[in-house]
Amino acid sequence: MVRFTLCLLGAAALIAAGSAARADEPDAAARAHAQHIAVTVCGTCHGPNGNSTQPKFPRLAGQNANYLAAQLKAFRAQTRGDPDAIGYMWGMASQLDDDAIEALAAYYAAQKAEPSASGASAAISRGREIYAKGVAAQGVPACSSCHGPDAHGLQDFPRLAGQHAQYVLKQLGSFQSNMRNVAIMHGVAQNLNVGDMDAVAAFLETQP
Ligand code: HEC
Ligand code: HEC
Repeated sequence: MVRFTLCLLGAAALIAAGSAARADEPDAAARAHAQHIAVTVCGTCHGPNGNSTQPKFPRLAGQNANYLAAQLKAFRAQTRGDPDAIGYMWGMASQLDDDAIEALAAYYAAQKAEPSASGASAAISRGREIYAKGVAAQGVPACSSCHGPDAHGLQDFPRLAGQHAQYVLKQLGSFQSNMRNVAIMHGVAQNLNVGDMDAVAAFLETQP
C-alpha cells in the first residue's frame, strides 16, 4: 500500500509537469506522460495497453475517449459509486487533473483491443439475440441501438465488445440498483433478469 501511494504521488508530480501547456488535443509531452502513467500506474490493474486479463478490472483498450474521460471525471467527482469504484478508482482519479484525464482517455482510445480469452457458454446465442433485439416482452430495448451493431460503441456510447463478462454483469446489476446511477442504463437494466444479464455478458466477451 505504501509503495502504491508513493507510486501515485510520483504520478501526480509527472501529471503536473506534463500539463503546463494547455490545448484541446494533448500535446506530445502530455501524451508521453499519459503513456508513462498508463503503463506504470494504471497498468498494474488494467494492463499496460488497457487489455486487462483479470475480470475484475475492465478493459480500456479501444474504448471511446469521451466515455473514458467522463468516467474518470465521475470517479473524481465521486458520483460513480459502486464499492469497487469507491475502493479502486476514487483515489486514482483524485490525482488526475483535466489535462491528464484527456491525455489518458486519448491513450486508451488509441490502443488496439485484443480478443478476450472468453470461455464457451451455453448462454451465448441467447445473449446475441438480446443484444441485437432486446427482450420485447419485458420492455428491454436492443443494446445494439446505442452500443452499435458490432458493440464497438456508437458516438459516445461505450464499446462493450471483448469486455470481461464478470465486469459487464456487475455493471448491469449496479445500473439496476442505481449504485451506478445513470438514468439511461437504469431504464435498460431494470427489466433484465439475472439470466438475461448473464447471457448478454457472456456474448459480449466473445466479440472481437
Ligand atoms: C488497483 C487497481 C486499479 C488501478 C491501479 C487503476 N484502476 Fe481503473 N478501475 C479499477 C476497477 C476495479 C474498476 C472498475 C470499477 C467498478 O467496478 O465500477 C476500474 C474502472 C476504471 C474505468 C472505468 C472503465 C469503464 O469501462 O467504465 C476507467 C476509465 C479507469 N478505471 C481508468 C483508470 C486509470 C486511467 C488509471 C490510472 C490513473 C486506473 N484506472 C488505475 C481498478 C484500478
Ligand atoms: C438508449 C441507449 C442505450 C441502450 C439501449 C443500452 N445502453 Fe448500455 N449504456 C448507455 C450509456 C449512455 C452508457 C454509459 C453510462 C455512463 O455514462 O456511465 C451505457 C453503459 C453500459 C455499460 C457499462 C460499460 C462500462 O464499460 O462500464 C454496460 C455494461 C451496458 N451499457 C450494457 C448494455 C446492455 C447489455 C444493453 C442491452 C440490454 C444496453 N447497454 C443498452 C446507453 C444504452
